[in-house]
Amino acid sequence: MSQPGSFYITTPIFYVNDVPHIGHAYTEVAADVLARWHRQAGDDTWLLTGTDEHGQKIERTAAANGVSPKEWADKLVAEAWLPVLDTLDVANDDFIRTTDERHETAVEKFLQQLYDEGHIYEGVYEGYYCVGCEEYKQLDDLDQPEDGEFAGQYLCKIHSRPVEILKEKNYFFRMSDFGQALLDLYEQQPDFVQPDSVRNEIIQFVKQGLEDLSISRSSFDWGVKVPWDPTHVVYVWFDALLNYATAVGWGADTEQFRRRWPAYHLVGKDIARFHAVIWPAMLMAAGLPVPRGVFGHGWLLVGGEKMSKSKLTGIAPAQITDVFGSDAFRYYFLSAITFGQDGSFSWEDLSARYQAELANGFGNLASRVIAMIEKYRGGVVPDAPRDAAITDLEKSVTDAAHASIGTFAIHEAIASIGTLVDALNGYVTEQAPWVLAKDEAQAGRLDEVLATLAHGVGTLAVLYSPVMPQATAKLWAALGESGALIDQRVDRAWDRPGRGTVSALDPLFPRVEVEPAGS
Ligand code: MSP
Repeated sequence: MSQPGSFYITTPIFYVNDVPHIGHAYTEVAADVLARWHRQAGDDTWLLTGTDEHGQKIERTAAANGVSPKEWADKLVAEAWLPVLDTLDVANDDFIRTTDERHETAVEKFLQQLYDEGHIYEGVYEGYYCVGCEEYKQLDDLDQPEDGEFAGQYLCKIHSRPVEILKEKNYFFRMSDFGQALLDLYEQQPDFVQPDSVRNEIIQFVKQGLEDLSISRSSFDWGVKVPWDPTHVVYVWFDALLNYATAVGWGADTEQFRRRWPAYHLVGKDIARFHAVIWPAMLMAAGLPVPRGVFGHGWLLVGGEKMSKSKLTGIAPAQITDVFGSDAFRYYFLSAITFGQDGSFSWEDLSARYQAELANGFGNLASRVIAMIEKYRGGVVPDAPRDAAITDLEKSVTDAAHASIGTFAIHEAIASIGTLVDALNGYVTEQAPWVLAKDEAQAGRLDEVLATLAHGVGTLAVLYSPVMPQATAKLWAALGESGALIDQRVDRAWDRPGRGTVSALDPLFPRVEVEPAGS
């Protein structure tokens, strides 16, 4: 899927009605690992994230808290959504808010262009609306329970709450014009929507026939005003989707837009339809290139249910990072869950993997190798030939991990790197450097073994750096190799001299003594 040279990746922009939970954090860290990897593979990379601040949901939350929507959004962004990026070690290049002037101005311009070109007309929307989803709903999307609190009412399947019935004068986007063009797109560019489960669902949906989309609301006013009719505000999804283009200069900075666009969109599968149907149709209407791809990842489940604040299963990212650290958070969610499928979170699984794979696996290997070089060679990595079997494995693991990242198979990339950890740990046991060290005649062989190990561990630092930036930076510094870790090419991780003078390394993944909250 990846085209060498440039890589623009986005996360969804998050609603500011509430604070982030680990489901949101999952999208953020996945996008960050992909971006860091591409950056370190030499691609001209841009990672965009941000917040979705308009619409009825935010307006109502602010009102319930007795402040204006903008005050509410400012508070949540400053106190929750920006800090969580630090908590998770996300190195985003930009953060867009839909209340930014750069965004609002460009949204008006985009809408006006579509209106002038005949893609928008006035009509009446009569139907269902879920404020939680900010989505117009069809009967197919609703449940009607026979008993219980909401007996006989139509409930949103996602929120399990009654939907509202709207009858409003709205402006409509002629989305139905683009049904065939979208089907052609899915066929000509089979990886436009990934994974296949999401792609199939999208194709099914479009094949049923597309309706025109209401793109304005007139019963409240928290949004971007429709330029030719200020009694309407732009429908929040139409406004929000445009962030991906406005953030990189659409309508204002042509050069920047040309350099970055088109993007890969990483989204939860729940919102794949907006990204793989409405958004490309909007772009086609405006005569702009469609995205490079839309990847719909799975849901984090807690106790078998999609984790969410409203269902009280929400876990804040800091509850995990405070105990295990941000590296372990990133590693765990991206290695334990097949990217693209749902995955269950449990404290027990996290603890077990932390102990086995990070503390006893990678961390222990790194400590032992550094300690042996200190003990047997005064800290200097010997200048000796390395064992070909390990060198070859470093290369094949690098190639495999790079290829996996290119297809968004993050879990597979991490699994490949793990095979190098296991191989190096096996090599230590097999070569028993402590035995070689007792025999003067084996000094040359000990040099070779230590050189092989130091190089292998350095390769691990490079390959793991997009996933675990903190631990790998400590390891890299302790190995004493030349150059900054972030300047090392992940796609050529094996191709370094691997020499240096080592220094002491504290355990990379210390024993976790505290019982995690909620376990
Ligand atoms: N504001 C819209 C997106 C607009 S993009 C133009 C929105 N925001 S959201 O805050 O509700 O959620 C955004 C994303 O958070 C989801 O698509 C998904 O990526 C992530 N997740 C929220 N809950 C999740 C889980 N339980 N599991 C995994 N990801 C989840 O939708």
